[in-house]
Amino acid sequence: MKKVITYGTFDLLHYGHINILKRAKQHGDFLVVALSTDEFNAIKGKESYFKYEERKQLLNAIRYVDLVIPEESWDQKARDIQKYDIDCFVMGNDWEGKFDFLKKYTEVVYLPRTPEISTSKIKDDLGFGSTG
Ligand code: CTP
Repeated sequence: MKKVITYGTFDLLHYGHINILKRAKQHGDFLVVALSTDEFNAIKGKESYFKYEERKQLLNAIRYVDLVIPEESWDQKARDIQKYDIDCFVMGNDWEGKFDFLKKYTEVVYLPRTPEISTSKIKDDLGFGSTG
């Protein structure tokens, strides 16, 4: 079984998120999503609208997602890849090249972002103010 992992906050879940999860799953048979915790978002200077458990519940309802784990630090990726026996690491191409150091552990794939949608844009358009 080929196992894939991806990372993110996935706040105010939108079709750009669904698209990347669908394409990530196409790289294997089992998709792990490492979901940024509220505490880790604070470190990143982000504040999500939905809290971790709410974001997790939404991700768990998506057919492409097999397992949601917490993302709590920048440096856990190599450990996750080994712990979950990951064959493919997927990120959106806003991170192009940033995770090439993981190639010694697994395949690294950057997928094109879906144009014109982001959590930040939704917040801006609805007048929430952007928090990152
Ligand atoms: N993503 C994507 N296409 C989009 C938006 C996000 O492919 N239009 C991908 C990102 O590249 C990332 C994953 O979805 O791999 C989770 O991204 P996240 O940062 O949680 O979502 P954004 O909408 O980019 O949020 P923000 O605006 O807060 O950065």
